[in-house]
Amino acid sequence: MKEYDRIPVSKVQRASKFISTGAKIGSNYLKHYGKKLINGEADRDELHLDNATDIYNSLSELKGGALKVAQMLSMDKNILPTAYQQKFAMAQYSAPPLSYPLVVKTFIKYFGKGPTEIFDSFTPKATNAASMGQVHQALLKGKKLAVKIQYPGVGDSVKSDLAMIKPIALTMFRLNPVEYDEFIQEVESRMLEETDYALELQRSMDLSARTKHLKNIIFPTYYPAYSSDKILTMDWIEGKPLGELLNGPIPQPERNKIGQALWDFYHFQMHTLKAMHADPHPGNFIITNDYQLGIIDFGCVKVIPEEFYKIYFQLLEVDVLTNLEKREKTFRDLRFIHPQDTKKEEEFFTAIFMKLVELLGRPFQSETFDFADDAYFNELYSFGEKLSTMKELRESKRARGVGEAVYLNRTYFGLYTILHDLKAKINTTW
Ligand SMILES: Nc1ncnc2c1ncn2[C@@H]1O[C@H](COP(=O)(O)OP(=O)(O)O)[C@@H](O)[C@H]1O
Ligand SMILES: [Mg+2]
Repeated sequence: MKEYDRIPVSKVQRASKFISTGAKIGSNYLKHYGKKLINGEADRDELHLDNATDIYNSLSELKGGALKVAQMLSMDKNILPTAYQQKFAMAQYSAPPLSYPLVVKTFIKYFGKGPTEIFDSFTPKATNAASMGQVHQALLKGKKLAVKIQYPGVGDSVKSDLAMIKPIALTMFRLNPVEYDEFIQEVESRMLEETDYALELQRSMDLSARTKHLKNIIFPTYYPAYSSDKILTMDWIEGKPLGELLNGPIPQPERNKIGQALWDFYHFQMHTLKAMHADPHPGNFIITNDYQLGIIDFGCVKVIPEEFYKIYFQLLEVDVLTNLEKREKTFRDLRFIHPQDTKKEEEFFTAIFMKLVELLGRPFQSETFDFADDAYFNELYSFGEKLSTMKELRESKRARGVGEAVYLNRTYFGLYTILHDLKAKINTTW
């Protein structure tokens, strides 16, 4: 794989990447419609795949904020055609690494010495790449460590990346500009936090200490002495990344065991700690030989304010759809419905959100739920697809939902997707 001696950080370079991406998307559309004119038909999947490849190639060179947004969007099957999701899911594994001299320079800046003076050994090449950093393996007193190093300049570029990806997101992902702003503020705050490895160290140690009593999960030990704003050192977890494991055969009891561990980990954080790991992406879980769930990457943590907690989780109360007064209040508090809505809008959006609440809340309605259930997921995805084509939704000038909910929704979305891929049957009572 090609290595970068420097990242394309200047605004002009980054902007030109976006422009070339835009041009490629345009030409693919031309190809698509050209074909349509000749044959009288065109292959929509082929078009999506062409675009996904182009966008993915450009974004993976960009690193930083843009790639992270792409990853976020890739989790939302409601927004992205399947071709995009597959491409963007790969982003986690395929960003080009930084060269060794740049890595050494980062070490000298923070510790006054290079990695080989600190560790007994250190891999000159990154063993794993990610959106804002890359991971090297090191050995210290016989212990294998993971050393995550942040790409220089990432923090400065997050905001400009977000500004530049906006036109692509609006047109390609058919987002409404008002919703986008509401969403992006929340995303921007979390992403700026993600560039702070000192904060990540503190949160990793705190949340892992408070959840480690749960069954079948493990965490690396973190090493503050070998960590800084841009470097994070922890134990290496031996095992297979969950994404890789999902492609192979896993016995059903093990599927259930991993799924249950995931479920318990997220619900304990939401309901008891009111702060949670908000990035349930297959790349952030490592499954050990004996099928324990190894959890890494507390870069994105959502703290759930008490007031908001009460409002949001009313959605899971049994009578939220049948108790009219409660339903109206909850829907208004969460801004599914606006005070300025016309009667017609109110009816339209009430019906949509009732359906969503019923669908997404279904796993909670019985003691156990089988996430292998394709019929359930087809219902969910086809409703999502229907929503993405509704002109009332696209043309609505008001954002539906509150920014505070973005990462909770996203966490549930990631959790359901992984549990479905795992085909896990689990106890969902909480
Ligand atoms: N402690 C670890 N043990 C084993 N692999 C790790 C460890 N930490 C990171 N990795 C590998 O490096 C990748 C990127 O690390 P991660 O912390 O998720 O970075 P990012 O915050 O940029 O997503 C992970 O997906 C995983 O494959
Ligand atoms: Mg990660």
